[in-house]
Amino acid sequence: MTAGTALDVRVAGTQIVFSCRPGETVLDAAERAGYALPYSCRKGVCTSCAATLTEGSAQVPGNPPTKAPADGVLLCRAVPRSAVEIAPTRIERSEPPTRRTMAATVHKISYPAPDVAVLALRYPIGKRVRFRAGQYLTVRLPDGDTRNYSMANPPRRNDAVSLHIRRVPGGRFSEGALAGLRRGDQLTVELPFGEFTVDHDSTRPILLVVTGTGFAPAKSIIEDLIARRAARPVRLYWGARRAGDLYLGELAERWAAKHRWFGFTPVLSDPDADWTGRTGPVHRAVLADHPELRGHDVYACGNPAMTAAARDEFHALAGLPPEQFRADAFLPTGPAPTH
Ligand SMILES: Cc1cc2nc3c(=O)[nH]c(=O)nc-3n(C[C@H](O)[C@H](O)[C@H](O)COP(=O)(O)OP(=O)(O)OC[C@H]3O[C@@H](n4cnc5c(N)ncnc54)[C@H](O)[C@@H]3O)c2cc1C
Ligand code: FES
Repeated sequence: MTAGTALDVRVAGTQIVFSCRPGETVLDAAERAGYALPYSCRKGVCTSCAATLTEGSAQVPGNPPTKAPADGVLLCRAVPRSAVEIAPTRIERSEPPTRRTMAATVHKISYPAPDVAVLALRYPIGKRVRFRAGQYLTVRLPDGDTRNYSMANPPRRNDAVSLHIRRVPGGRFSEGALAGLRRGDQLTVELPFGEFTVDHDSTRPILLVVTGTGFAPAKSIIEDLIARRAARPVRLYWGARRAGDLYLGELAERWAAKHRWFGFTPVLSDPDADWTGRTGPVHRAVLADHPELRGHDVYACGNPAMTAAARDEFHALAGLPPEQFRADAFLPTGPAPTH
């Protein structure tokens, strides 16, 4: 290979070939060429983008090269060292994303629960950024590091953005920077990212299974479905420790009262003494209600342990086909590891 030469990436079992620029990751090159691959964090943490390298050699910066055949190659970080062939779990034609970097202004910060902040940001006057319900943005910290947050507003409201941020003890952004933000301060954000979006070609009933601030993208998805006048059955299972952690539970109750196609099941893992509702891990409540999931589309979001257990158990115990399950695991999005 000559330094500075673009390299071909072939996709095993298909006619798809695209070109990767020097230093470019396979995921970035695929998007530029108009192909969507599975991903979530884009930082080498969540393994959503893991694929098999069937030919050639690739390298994650700071690591030794990986030669084919190799499983579990993270396409969000892997840069080809030669022409390569990959076998991803899924690849689809898609418009190359039009991402924008914006200086957003803090409009309001409210605390619907002691450890959850709702951060309302506004774009400069006249600026709008298109996104799909369920996607996330990145907030840039002063040293260039980034944090991911899902957009809680529906896509029709695209001149501003609302984020639900759970305080992580010792967290640089969620505890540190956020506490110092005041109305009028500016944050640099880039958007949109993410594949945690509804497949509108499907007519199967939707189950949204979330914990904590995993409610944020679910809110965007549900408000978008309301705006689209969708009548496809949707049930939200929202898991939390205590009732007070269901920080917008009343909003979910209002949707359920107003829309016959929508149902809401709150589930507490450490219930208050007077709680008469469902208890235990949220994904187990889903399994108890739906021992057969073959006919559903499931969207799981929030705690990584929950999304992993849901993926495994829904498939093994209730027959959910893997392609009918999408998840965003809220993994730490601090500095990308170098391994
Ligand atoms: C696709 C995606 C979307 C996300 N959307 C949201 C969202 O809408 N709302 C939201 O609140 N968060 C969301 N997150 C998580 C968010 O990006 C940050 O990782 C989180 O807010 C912590 O950042 P921080 O700077 O406060 O903590 P850091 O300074 O990065 O971390 C401080 C310490 O806490 C640990 N830590 C970080 N995050 C967690 C965690 N979640 N659980 C346990 N320990 C942790 C770190 O390993 C580190 O030791 C999302 C993550 C992903 C991958
Ligand atoms: S998207 Fe590659 S590891 Fe998360």
